[in-house]
Amino acid sequence: MTGSGKTTFVNAYLKAERAAACRFIFDDLNRMWPRLAIPACYTLAQLEASLPSRWIAFNPLKLFPGDTKAALKWWCRWVFHCASRGPGKKMVVIPEVWRHCNPDTIPAELALLAQAGRELNVELIVDTQRPELVNGSITGAATELVCFKLIAGEALRAVEKLWADAGVACDRGKISALSLGQFLALNRLTGGTLAGRVF
Ligand SMILES: Nc1ncnc2c1ncn2[C@@H]1O[C@H](COP(=O)(O)OP(=O)(O)OP(=O)(O)O)[C@@H](O)[C@H]1O
Ligand SMILES: [Mg+2]
Repeated sequence: MTGSGKTTFVNAYLKAERAAACRFIFDDLNRMWPRLAIPACYTLAQLEASLPSRWIAFNPLKLFPGDTKAALKWWCRWVFHCASRGPGKKMVVIPEVWRHCNPDTIPAELALLAQAGRELNVELIVDTQRPELVNGSITGAATELVCFKLIAGEALRAVEKLWADAGVACDRGKISALSLGQFLALNRLTGGTLAGRVF
């Protein structure tokens, strides 16, 4: 739910992964670059010039005014191209990914990034207030799930299913009882769990 700590977690995670070759952030909502104290890139030249800093936040307002859909597709293709240019882990961040897909459809470019993991060393990191709207090509490829407080029934059902698919029981009461800032995390490959808090 809003204010539960998702963006705080993603920002902390990006900083903790010191060895990452590059971090790419689709920041159309200006939720991340001001908090990370990095510049926002508005043009292709600015994006390219930011690559050596390893922190690249894209705001599409100038290149794609009013067309977030076209912006995301274009940015995904650019990130994919960059990821194929060199070695090392590329962290790719899309805040509130439910705005860009639904259970039935997803832009091909985004699905490709979600699946690109091993081949290009791309790690896709998405957060969502609406887990029930995230497309299966993202949830299916996800290796870790970090759950913050949720109270909406549909969202809790979707999250419960993600845990159950990994063979770990997590009743909705545990997720709805979390405090703001607290999380329950699941490694979907090993079934390992972790409880923690970001504030
Ligand atoms: N610019 C900021 N700098 C530092 N702390 C912030 C900032 N914005 C919010 N916070 C703190 O972080 C808390 C959690 O916010 P956060 O953005 O991590 O939640 P969220 O789950 O991403 O919410 P949303 O769904 O609204 O994006 C806020 O209640 C606030 O105390
Ligand atoms: Mg947020």
